[in-house]
Amino acid sequence: MTMIRATERPKAVTEDRLITDQHLPIDERITRIEDDSILEVSNFSAYYGKFRALHNVSFQIPEKKITALIGPSGCGKSTLLRCINRMNDLVPSFHGEGEVTFRGQDLYAKDVDPVEVRRRIGMVFQKPNPFPKSIYENIAFGPKVNGMNVNMPALVEDCLRRAALWDDVKDKLKQSGLALSGGQQQRLCIARALATQPEVILMDEPCSALDPIATLKIEDLMKELSKDFTIIIVTHNMQQAARVADYTAFLMMREDRAGELVEFSDTDKLFTMPKDKRTEDYITGRFG
Ligand SMILES: Nc1ncnc2c1ncn2[C@@H]1O[C@H](COP(=O)(O)OP(=O)(O)OP(=O)(O)O)[C@@H](O)[C@H]1O
Ligand SMILES: [Mg+2]
Repeated sequence: MTMIRATERPKAVTEDRLITDQHLPIDERITRIEDDSILEVSNFSAYYGKFRALHNVSFQIPEKKITALIGPSGCGKSTLLRCINRMNDLVPSFHGEGEVTFRGQDLYAKDVDPVEVRRRIGMVFQKPNPFPKSIYENIAFGPKVNGMNVNMPALVEDCLRRAALWDDVKDKLKQSGLALSGGQQQRLCIARALATQPEVILMDEPCSALDPIATLKIEDLMKELSKDFTIIIVTHNMQQAARVADYTAFLMMREDRAGELVEFSDTDKLFTMPKDKRTEDYITGRFG
């Protein structure tokens, strides 16, 4: 199997390991892979300087399902999401403790390339943020930077089709991505995330800047994409979690303000038969 050096970009989309120096036999590097889980967060704590934003969070993310993260503002949902693809590495004061494993590989191991992690675990943000480039270039940029050897026009079309945007933009691929409507821009960002052929897509409140119709379009799109991708979405909208997510995780702040995972369940169960009183109080609107 071809390995990727931490200092090199991947050369082909078929390369499927994250690390180079394989000092350990594969069995010793793999901690645990449940049949249906692609990611495992184990005893993970996140810090900004001395402030602890997450406290010993542990859960597993099932593959090709939608998992929602809910909880009051400031409980660490975005932090947790950004720890899953090492986006938080970009915050100088950040450090993490514990493990995040992706297909059994510790994502914080020394020899793992964070750029490769972000290629395989893509992200869509709250505010649509297309590059100030053409629609075509928005999609082609990631594959080019990653040195992917692909039929670019075909890839661009495929990503736009998957993001339910092709019919809207097929005649104006050279126009700026910024000239699209908010909902279209967010679908462009989803198409852009798909272009580097990730396995997981993280979405941090992807609909909070959109109107109800654009929101429903994104929700339909997420359901469609979950046939092929694992999706983790942060949302403040509990109806949205109930509509789209297969599983839901509820986080809440402790007294020291660090977020902890209170409950992780099937979405139906979490909203109808929560195990924890704090979940019940939150979903019935008693706080937060
Ligand atoms: N870059 C940062 N530097 C320092 N502290 C941060 C940073 N980002 C987040 N925090 C702190 O970490 C805690 C968790 O923040 P986070 O943004 O993860 O919460 P959240 O659950 O996503 O909130 P919201 O629902 O308002 O988006 C907060 O106390 C926040 O102030
Ligand atoms: Mg947030």
